Amino acid sequence: MKSSGTKRRRRNETLISESSEETERIGLNLAREVPVPGVVLLRGELGTGKTTLTRGIARGLGLIDPTLVNSPSFTLVNIYQGNCAIYHVDLYRLQSERDLYSIGLDDFLGKEGVTVVEWSEKLPYSLGQAMEVGIVDGGGDRRALHIRYPPSGRVNRQKKDL
Ligand SMILES: Nc1ncnc2c1ncn2[C@@H]1O[C@H](COP(=O)(O)OP(=O)(O)O)[C@@H](O)[C@H]1O
Ligand SMILES: [Mg+2]
Repeated sequence: MKSSGTKRRRRNETLISESSEETERIGLNLAREVPVPGVVLLRGELGTGKTTLTRGIARGLGLIDPTLVNSPSFTLVNIYQGNCAIYHVDLYRLQSERDLYSIGLDDFLGKEGVTVVEWSEKLPYSLGQAMEVGIVDGGGDRRALHIRYPPSGRVNRQKKDL
């Protein structure tokens, strides 16, 4: 029997995208599955579409001008305002854990708004309650997006065994 009042976790799934527009649309739909506060962890090589997916998520969260969503080349975080604050973190150039403190990650990650993290494998801890998307280049414009939906509940962090 279906229990009322408790949100069931969605099944993990793999979606295939054939274009950047399609990836953006997938992001738009994923935004509905992200709790606020919430975290989306992105993995995938350069050029697989992490920023493109983030643009869709930001649109889904009510950002009026999605052209604002670009790779934050020299900053580790860009902040956009939609229906909630959207923290777009890109750890590609992360040098040390100290850089995470300098952007105040602890103040917003999982605590306020929605945080989308590119190169999330560089985070020094794992987040049990986050949505995770791994993007794999399938050649040409084809991308496989492996999606792990968040279990409901608060975002807890656990130190990784490095
Ligand atoms: N199916 C697809 N999904 C996303 N991007 C795609 C796709 N096919 C081609 N592209 C292109 O790949 C590039 C992805 O760039 P970007 O989103 O910045 O990647 P990342 O942030 O992972 O480095 C863009 O130039 C985009 O036009
Ligand atoms: Mg990017």
